[in-house]
Amino acid sequence: MAKVTVVGAGNVGATCANVLAFKKVADTVVMLDVKQGVAEGKAIDMLQTVQTLGFETKVLGVTNDYAATADSDVIVVTSGIPRKPGMTREELIGTNANIVKSVVSQCLNYSPNAVFVIISNPMDTMTYLTLKATGLPKNKVIGMGGALDSSRFKYYLSAALQANPAEVEGLVIGGHGDTTMIPLKRLATYNGTPVAQLLAADALDKVVADTMVGGATLTGLLGTSAWYAPGAAGAYVVESIINDYQRLIPSCVYLEGEYGQNDICIGVPAIIGRNGVERIVDLNLSAEEQALFEKSADAVRKTNAVLTEIKAL
Ligand code: 2OP
Repeated sequence: MAKVTVVGAGNVGATCANVLAFKKVADTVVMLDVKQGVAEGKAIDMLQTVQTLGFETKVLGVTNDYAATADSDVIVVTSGIPRKPGMTREELIGTNANIVKSVVSQCLNYSPNAVFVIISNPMDTMTYLTLKATGLPKNKVIGMGGALDSSRFKYYLSAALQANPAEVEGLVIGGHGDTTMIPLKRLATYNGTPVAQLLAADALDKVVADTMVGGATLTGLLGTSAWYAPGAAGAYVVESIINDYQRLIPSCVYLEGEYGQNDICIGVPAIIGRNGVERIVDLNLSAEEQALFEKSADAVRKTNAVLTEIKAL
């Protein structure tokens, strides 16, 4: 009997809840929002698809009623404001840090054993804040960004290769920022063949550049942050936890020496299972990739430092 709570019933949270319900990942999905009636309304809307889509998951929407989230196995946090065109994810920290801090501590009161999946932006820093503010063990706090960025990388790779996206493999590590993420072009493959053998260098560099601004491109088109892929990527991580799939998912996790970093949450490949982060996988980065990773970590650390400035930590 698995129970998942999604905090924030905006576009990303509601999409995540909808995918979880439709795919029957949990028996119960609770959506919680601060806006009166929004989570209730979206839950009823989803339940009115039960007949047409065929699923038995219970979906419950509540306004700020944390008691309804009690004993969740996984808590997905999407709370806070999304970015508008022209904004970076990092600019959201002033508003989102205190919201996320309050949300995670209230959730923890009712679900002391939950694994937290953080989607709120700036995602790397919100993951770090969750870990530090709750005092949870490091395996129980996972930032979602790498799953999303990798799915965008595979989308752009498949477009450039004119290939089936399901046959393309690729990982994005580093921070979940327009300039901090690192699509690993050396390790990307199409049905086992390195894509570097199939695409010209400039075409591959364009794939990498498009991936890095993948979220910003959609924000420009939509007028707000994207939601289908972010919501689905969140559900993909939750599914691996609930069903103990042990998927290798690039995830924002706490590092203690891995990849040469300490006291930071940043994207690296991790095995995700029932305990949350089961283990971190070492990819043996090249010197060039390691240098990019260090630069990315420096940028994430700079954003983390703002948490102290605004007294969130
Ligand atoms: C994005 O990249 C929501 O940060 C998320 O679309």
